[in-house]
Amino acid sequence: MPKPITCIEDLRLLARRRVPRMFYDYADSGAWTESTYRANEADFTRIKLRQRVAVDMTDRSLGSTMVGQKVALPIALAPTGLTGMQHADGEILAARAAEKAGVPFTLSTMSICSIEDVAAHTTAPFWFQLYVMRDRDFIGKLIDRAKAARCSALVLTLDLQILGQRHKDVVNGLSTPPKPTFANLVNLATKPRWCLGMLGTKRRSFGNIVGHAANVSNVSSLSAWTAEQFDPKLSWDDVRWIKDRWGGKLIIKGILDPEDAEQAARLADSGIADALVVSNHGGRQLDGAVSSIEALPAIVAAVGDRIEVLMDGGIRSGQDVIKALALGARGVFIGRAFLYGLGALGEAGVTACIDVLRKELDVTMALCGLRDVTRVDRRILVEGTYPQAASAAAFESLPASLQGSLPGSSPGSTQRPAQRTPGYDPLAALPAGH
Ligand code: GLV
Repeated sequence: MPKPITCIEDLRLLARRRVPRMFYDYADSGAWTESTYRANEADFTRIKLRQRVAVDMTDRSLGSTMVGQKVALPIALAPTGLTGMQHADGEILAARAAEKAGVPFTLSTMSICSIEDVAAHTTAPFWFQLYVMRDRDFIGKLIDRAKAARCSALVLTLDLQILGQRHKDVVNGLSTPPKPTFANLVNLATKPRWCLGMLGTKRRSFGNIVGHAANVSNVSSLSAWTAEQFDPKLSWDDVRWIKDRWGGKLIIKGILDPEDAEQAARLADSGIADALVVSNHGGRQLDGAVSSIEALPAIVAAVGDRIEVLMDGGIRSGQDVIKALALGARGVFIGRAFLYGLGALGEAGVTACIDVLRKELDVTMALCGLRDVTRVDRRILVEGTYPQAASAAAFESLPASLQGSLPGSSPGSTQRPAQRTPGYDPLAALPAGH
């Protein structure tokens, strides 16, 4: 009898057994000392929930919207590179599991299965994540391909113009597919399921790139390839032409600072952006940056209701999801959590991951005294245990020279109070005496 899956950690342990070390490590790693990677998870544990009793718990609802699209629960699958190396055809399997669960799947630019491939194997529109490369012609065509595949949102990642170093990738010689070195062959010999799956698929390199981009060499090595192709000159101005070419919903990913959030809100004011994602790229880029959950309240306070706020980083349970919602996120992205499910059990593992999070979110919400996930707010949290928005005074004390040099600096606006969903009376969301 296989051991039942009770939590995301069960999936992680199974994935660690089944996925070749190089790809398991690629997912389960952060930049340099991994302090931000660890903080993303650890900072959730400090936030405490208020247990409420003797409230009517019937007819609970987890349904919500993200960028105006209905979701069965406020979770989207994050864009993750090399997903098709955690399990053969990984992006197709994860997209199918997401579709069945009624949540969005986001395909990474750095996926193994191509945009067209995922579209051919799913019916629900998925989201496409874009990295901006030097070759603008290629990027324009990539956007057109996402449009042709009926993707319903474009997720533009702004925090990876250059790649943060993850030591394990250097040590493992990460490449896709793995090079047949002695160490790799020894490791692969212990992963028969993975090998069998890979023998049964042709999808083994970057499906969106190979055969589409001109003058791309060394596509098997992610680090060499990003160094060669990703555009270090990317700026806020680029967001405009990307929106013009795309025309649909645009989500800006990688915001960790209220000043950058203000910039994203300005893009929303002019109809360019629809949402931002508070993210430090899963702790994989700037090691030493604050955790996403720590950054969230100040960003929500900075942008108010001008732009929808989503977040990612460290979500390993439904309790984490509800804490992020309580601090003002409209929804969250899960990355590693679903990758562990995929590596462990393929499509069934991604389904198991979403099921675990759904059940945990549902029961947690009920035990906090609420029945509707769209009514979660910070009053379900114990005062003093959650991060607060930094004070405007602290920002204003920055040297004027620094304030002026930052894009979108406008000190007074960083403390706009978060606005609530129109028509939402938070007091009505809670039982009397809450
Ligand atoms: C790419 O998105 C990475 O974080 O490796």
